[in-house]
Amino acid sequence: MSLNQRQQPLPTVAKHGLLMSSRASFSAAQPQGIVSSFLLSRSGLLSVLVLLLFLVVFVPLPGRRPMFALFSSSGDYGPVSRWKDYTLARAAASAARNGTLIVSAVSEPFLPLLNNWLISVARQKRQDQVLIFAEDYATLYEINRRWPRHAVLVQPAPDSQTAHNFGSQGFFNITSRRPRHLLDILELGYSVMYNDVDMVWVADPFRYLEGNHDVYFADDEVAVKPSSPIPYEQVKPLNHSHDLPRPGTNGKTYVCSCMIFLRPTRGAKKALSSWIEEIQNQPWSENTHTNDQPAFNSALNKTAGEVDLYLLPQATFPPGGLYFRNGDWVERTRGLHAIVHNNYIVGLQNKIQRFKDYGLWLADNHTDESPLGRI
Ligand SMILES: *[C@@H]1O[C@H](CO)[C@@H](O)[C@H](O)[C@H]1NC(C)=O
Ligand SMILES: *[C@@H]1O[C@H](CO)[C@@H](O)[C@H](O)[C@H]1NC(C)=O
Ligand SMILES: *[C@@H]1O[C@H](CO)[C@@H](O)[C@H](O)[C@H]1NC(C)=O
Ligand SMILES: *[C@@H]1O[C@H](CO)[C@@H](O)[C@H](O)[C@H]1NC(C)=O
Ligand SMILES: *[C@@H]1O[C@H](CO)[C@@H](O)[C@H](O)[C@H]1NC(C)=O
Repeated sequence: MSLNQRQQPLPTVAKHGLLMSSRASFSAAQPQGIVSSFLLSRSGLLSVLVLLLFLVVFVPLPGRRPMFALFSSSGDYGPVSRWKDYTLARAAASAARNGTLIVSAVSEPFLPLLNNWLISVARQKRQDQVLIFAEDYATLYEINRRWPRHAVLVQPAPDSQTAHNFGSQGFFNITSRRPRHLLDILELGYSVMYNDVDMVWVADPFRYLEGNHDVYFADDEVAVKPSSPIPYEQVKPLNHSHDLPRPGTNGKTYVCSCMIFLRPTRGAKKALSSWIEEIQNQPWSENTHTNDQPAFNSALNKTAGEVDLYLLPQATFPPGGLYFRNGDWVERTRGLHAIVHNNYIVGLQNKIQRFKDYGLWLADNHTDESPLGRI
């Protein structure tokens, strides 16, 4: 089931090709059997030629980085401005593994959080299938300079020079682009896992995507006031239902738009289109200080009859309001966590500090594990 166990076909072919040619030249050095060694080296030569042809023809499609770099004179490694024209179709084809992408969206101030998330993804050996939606040009260039082809910018870029906090209009502007990005990926035929950048993987989440549903999501609701410690008894039971949560007394649900897995199905596209529509119906204002999440909940509510929805286990995808506030629950659910969300706290520095306090900050001492290096 696990993607990372799949061998990429090209490196395997390349390895065998090299083995074959070195064997052939070894045989050719033997004094006996000149004809057979000639044939051997001819076949060795032939296999090398066939391999070369194969690489030239096929390598740019899956976009394996090292070989692409060898055989293409400029490729994607040209000047920085080239990335402006790097399309989502190309970026997705390059990063997808087994038809699946892992994506996040980030603006420049949040690069340290991105790096922390990325290191945690790399620890599960899934970094190759990561594609970052850069929400400004600086981010696009910086990521692709350090790690070519893993960032794409969908124009027009929003104005994002500052770290937009939850509830701000800038935050709304950026997060409201999310369903469009995801729908574009589905239209290209890929499955996609979206993660907010203030998350950290502590295990591979893919094994929890049970069944064959259209849309997978996690519940962000914690039963009591976020500021108080939550008694274990008030937390969702471990065997909670995988149906869309029932609306509370205020008629609302609190499904998180932070971690979503979608298959390229009619149902998933329907849910995303509805989300896009709901964002237009519920724009940010000084009074609402809304973000993309209420619209996501409205969309799920409206499309529930036609879309196959799956609520992920809360113990596996815990919200910050639970994970960082209920040590007892964390202890009792140890071994079940996959992605921890550092939410229920506002501000970039506060998030970083909390990750540090809980031993989940990898971006200082483990940058050698990041495809981006130190940021
Ligand atoms: C590839 O994806 C398919 C469908 O999404 C899944 O059933 C299969 O287990 C995946 N294969 C690997 C090796 O991960
Ligand atoms: C958000 O988008 C609106 C509409 O495009 C724009 O008027 C506003 O200036 C943007 N605000 C920020 C902070 O990006
Ligand atoms: C969860 O377990 C409890 C007690 O074991 C049981 O009463 C309840 O019906 C279960 N809930 C679900 C959704 O399976
Ligand atoms: C949608 O929301 C309405 C209003 O809160 C509620 O009555 C209804 O049960 C919800 N539908 C679903 C499928 O959850
Ligand atoms: C990084 O390593 C230093 C030196 O070992 C240590 O003092 C510090 O606490 C570590 N930082 C984090 C966030 O783990």
